[in-house]
This record gives sequence, structure tokens and C-alpha cells, in this order.
Amino acid sequence: MYPLRRNRRLRTTETIRSLVRETIISPNDFLVPLFVVEGKGVKEEIASMPNYYRYSLDLLAKEVKELWNLGLKSVLLFVKVPENLKDNSGTEALNAEGLMQRAIKTVKDAVPEMLVMTDVALDPYSIFGHDGIVSEGKILNDDTTAVLAEMALSHAKAGADFVAPSDMMDGRIFEMRTLLEDEGFHDTGIMSYSAKYASAFYGPFRDALDSAPVDKKDIPKNKNTYQMDPANREEAIKETLMDIQEGADIVMVKPGLCYLDIVRDIRNTVDVPVAVYQVSGEYAMIKAAAEKGWLDHDAVVLEQTTAIKRAGAQIIASYFAKDVAKLLF
Ligand code: PBG
Repeated sequence: MYPLRRNRRLRTTETIRSLVRETIISPNDFLVPLFVVEGKGVKEEIASMPNYYRYSLDLLAKEVKELWNLGLKSVLLFVKVPENLKDNSGTEALNAEGLMQRAIKTVKDAVPEMLVMTDVALDPYSIFGHDGIVSEGKILNDDTTAVLAEMALSHAKAGADFVAPSDMMDGRIFEMRTLLEDEGFHDTGIMSYSAKYASAFYGPFRDALDSAPVDKKDIPKNKNTYQMDPANREEAIKETLMDIQEGADIVMVKPGLCYLDIVRDIRNTVDVPVAVYQVSGEYAMIKAAAEKGWLDHDAVVLEQTTAIKRAGAQIIASYFAKDVAKLLF
């Protein structure tokens, strides 16, 4: 009771504050999303993601060496697929010599110890910009999961350590785990986007990969029939527990900031590591406000990533990973 207890005593100097600090972020916590394109010597800035780039394979090798030297030891790969290779069935996604498969090998050749995770979903490969096969205005579930399992196997064969399905079809974790086991890939892990919401914060990412749902007759204009309703909390637990039963090694909540209540619920419920994806729109908002001089970029970045960890994330996928690593150095 006051004045016997004065909480400010524990805040008087930075030394005492650091002694009693509950949450410490470090480069070990981060997973770095990377966008890959065809070509040579390509480093293109993404218009809606200032200071974030798409790399061709030669410059990807250079970038991952730099990340490793900053203490960033895990990457999450996404590819921008040339328009002429897109279709409605993910054919190119299974190409053993496709861009993703070559990107995996490029990273492993450049930094063998780097943990390589790969995005598994059809949207970058889809002429319709959907995460699954589209038929008569619907996204087919089971036809899609069969392709996704083959895609995961193809990434495992190319050397991926973890596959990361971001599609939200039902049963995809089971299909993937079963095929990986059958084919002898017992050590290939699955990080499942378990509670992935139908969010308006993915816009800049869809610019980066040119993967937004197309505006065509009979094609759903959004992903609401597979991604979760932002209004739902209980459902996130159900999705996540099912993914763990089906064989997910790591579960993920996405986006970050608006969903930290979900992160804590899940952390309190599950016995596997919980990841959070601080998504492209969250990145873009901070960049835009900082450019205008309205927010202190570095301070906000450290505050948000610390908040994500405090909420319960053991792994943070973030476009700010490199900034954070440099700030903590
Ligand atoms: C699609 C996918 C998306 C993201 C990762 N994988 C976007 C979407 O669902 O449309 C978003 C990541 C971000 O916004 O940073 N499979």
C-alpha cells in the first residue's frame, strides 16, 4: 500500500528498468520475409513498402549473407511468378526448377545454416489471385489441398527446412504431413498460418507479388470464404487446435497488431511455438507516418515488435527484422 509501495522506484533509472524488464526482443526471435523475382542484378523497391525489395537470385544470396551477419537466421520465401506461368491449377508451383525451388537452393548454398521456410499457397501462381483452384465462383477445397501437399513436397525436395502454408484451406496440414511422412521427409517442419484473418492489411504484399484477386465476373473479389472473419476469437482456437492435431509444428496468427488478444489466447492454450506475422500493411502504415514526420520510426518499430512478443509470440515474422537487428546491435 502507498507510500510503503511506490511503483516508480523500479523505474528511476535505465539500469533498474532493464533489470526488471519482462520482455526482451533479440534477432533470434525474427523470421525475415523475402520476395524473389526472376532476372539478374534485380533489386526493385516495392512501391507500397518503402525500403523493401524484390531480389533476383544473385542478389538474394548477397542479402541472406548480410542477414546472417546481423544475427537473423531464418527466412520466409515468397516468389513473384511471371504472368505467363500462372494458371488455375498451380502447375508452375510444382516445377522442380521453378523460381521457389531455385531460391531455396540459392539460400542454402549462400548460407547453409540459414533456416529456410517457404510460402505454400497458390495465389502467386493463380491467374485469378486466389489461394486455391477456382471453379464456378468457388474456391475448391480438396482439389487445392492435394496440389498444396505436392507443392510442400517439392519445396522439401529442394531443401526447405519448413513449409509454411498460408492458404487457409481445410485439412491442408493433414494432407501435407501425410505426404511428407510417406516420402521420408520426417524432419521437414510445418509452420501453419492457423489463424489467418481476411484482413485489409495485406494490400502492399499483393502489390509486391502482383497476387490480388482479379476483378472478373464469377471470381470472388475477396478471400472471405477461406480466411477468417476479423470478428471471431473462439474460432481462432478451433482452427489452431485442428492444425496441431493435423501435424503443425508451429502455429501462426496473422496479422499482428490488431490480433494480439488472439495471440495471447492461443499462447495460453497450445503446447507448440506461436508465431505472429506483422504484415505488409502494418509495415506500410509506420513507414508512411514516419515519412511525414508524424511518428518516430525506430521507437515505434521497437515498441510494436516488443508488444507482439509480450502478447505471446515466440517467433515474429516482420519486414522490420533487419531494422530491429541493426537497432539492437
Ligand atoms: C497469401 C499470403 C498473403 C500474405 C502472405 N501470404 C496475402 C493474402 O492472403 O492475400 C500477406 C502477408 C503480408 O501482407 O505481409 N497466401
